[in-house]
Amino acid sequence: MPETTPTADPLPRIGFGTAALKGRHGAETIAEALRTGYRLIDSAFNYENEGAVGAAVRSSGVPRDELIVTSKLPGRHHAHAAALESVEESVYRTGLDHLDLYLIHWPNPSQERYVEAWEALIEARERGLVRAIGVSNFLPEHIDRLVEATGVTPAVNQVELHPYFPQDEQRAYDASRGIVTEAWSPIGRANEMLRDPLLTRIAEGHGVSVAEVILAWHARLGVLPLPKATASERQRQNLAAIDLELTDADVEAIASLARPDGRTHDQDPAVYEEF
Ligand code: A2P
Repeated sequence: MPETTPTADPLPRIGFGTAALKGRHGAETIAEALRTGYRLIDSAFNYENEGAVGAAVRSSGVPRDELIVTSKLPGRHHAHAAALESVEESVYRTGLDHLDLYLIHWPNPSQERYVEAWEALIEARERGLVRAIGVSNFLPEHIDRLVEATGVTPAVNQVELHPYFPQDEQRAYDASRGIVTEAWSPIGRANEMLRDPLLTRIAEGHGVSVAEVILAWHARLGVLPLPKATASERQRQNLAAIDLELTDADVEAIASLARPDGRTHDQDPAVYEEF
């Protein structure tokens, strides 16, 4: 049996996305989210906001050991030494003494180095720089290679996932291996999905917003959504949504919204790469 790498504690059911939240204003927005009750913060080396995340953690007043602070390794640093250096730099930028979860941001298959990056993250975990390690945007074939090469299964796989792109196969794969599926752009980057007629009808039936219906749907599927919201009222609304109970009929109807080309920005990890 391959070794699995569960996080020290079970993860919360929802986290807070921080892409584009930077500087003093970003730090205040993230600290507000922590005070509102979010306990998992998602960041990345490439968001250039790990400093703001660290400042938010310190100013929030929330005990450090209640928080899961996440960052991600950029594609240009998959080589072993560069990957380890990036993890060290991420930790340094936050001003914290460790991070709780560190993910490979994209597999970038053409580089052929994600297994090497994974070996570096295993070492970073052994050194205590990070508590748990995982991946983002990995397809089953990519995860299979990591496990074959190292025997270590990622704790988390963070992928694009929302009602137009529910990732049934990837979710089933992750679940069968004990991998937590996290969702980026869980409300579809607030595009036309928030005006979808079916979702609007369901939302009206429950007396809530479409965003709340979508986040409740994630929870029902066992997916951990990472919505970003600037306004504190939206932060509160999104957090509360996780306790909204959808009916079986709601969930069945939402399944009909899936589209083969449902990705919002055509970012298929088999071919799309980020550095
Ligand atoms: P803002 O940051 O201005 O509050 P996603 O997480 O799917 O990438 O989407 C993030 C976008 O969704 C942001 O533009 C955010 O706006 C918006 N958003 C977050 N929560 C809500 C909500 N409850 N209702 C409407 N829009 C929301």
